[in-house]
Amino acid sequence: MTCAVYLGTFDPVTLGHVDIICRASSVFQRVVVGAFSQAQNKQPYFSIEKRLGFLREACVSFQNVEIQHFSGLAIHFAKQVGATVLVRGLRTEADFVYEMQMAGVNRALQEGIETIFFPTQHEFSFISSSLVKEVATFGGDVSGFVPPCVWKSFS
Ligand code: COA
Repeated sequence: MTCAVYLGTFDPVTLGHVDIICRASSVFQRVVVGAFSQAQNKQPYFSIEKRLGFLREACVSFQNVEIQHFSGLAIHFAKQVGATVLVRGLRTEADFVYEMQMAGVNRALQEGIETIFFPTQHEFSFISSSLVKEVATFGGDVSGFVPPCVWKSFS
């Protein structure tokens, strides 16, 4: 049974993230979504409890997906939950260099861990959590970018 982890800050989860989770859940037997609770260079807008609540609601229909929070290294969390795959989404070529660096460091730190990339669907390729927060803060409609539980929390 192959277990994969999909990690991020998810501040907040977007439809782009949900698309990756959905597709990962059809490829792997078990997917653990890990919300990073320790981001040093990002001051989260939503508390970790809120971010986990949004993820749980957005993923309620995926039977083989679990939602957890984590701190520390991604590879340690993967090992803790029994995962051998790190799932990442690739939106545009701008993600590529950073993602290759992360994959290389994670593999150097932990042999046997593979990073598998899912190309983000075209309609979600321009979404980021920061842009969602900015648009929502200034009263813009973000209902096309995030699950209903998230956009309702902005209004
Ligand atoms: N759809 C929509 N948005 C997406 C997306 C997708 N498919 N994929 C990424 N994004 C967005 C995110 O919302 C995020 O937006 P933001 O910067 O506006 O918040 C941005 O792209 C970056 O996402 P990501 O690369 O997942 O960064 P992150 O900060 O959410 O998470 C961790 C990064 C937590 C996965 C990474 O820092 C980590 O593993 N940390 C643990 C410590 C560690 O092991 N460090 C060594 C790693 S080599």
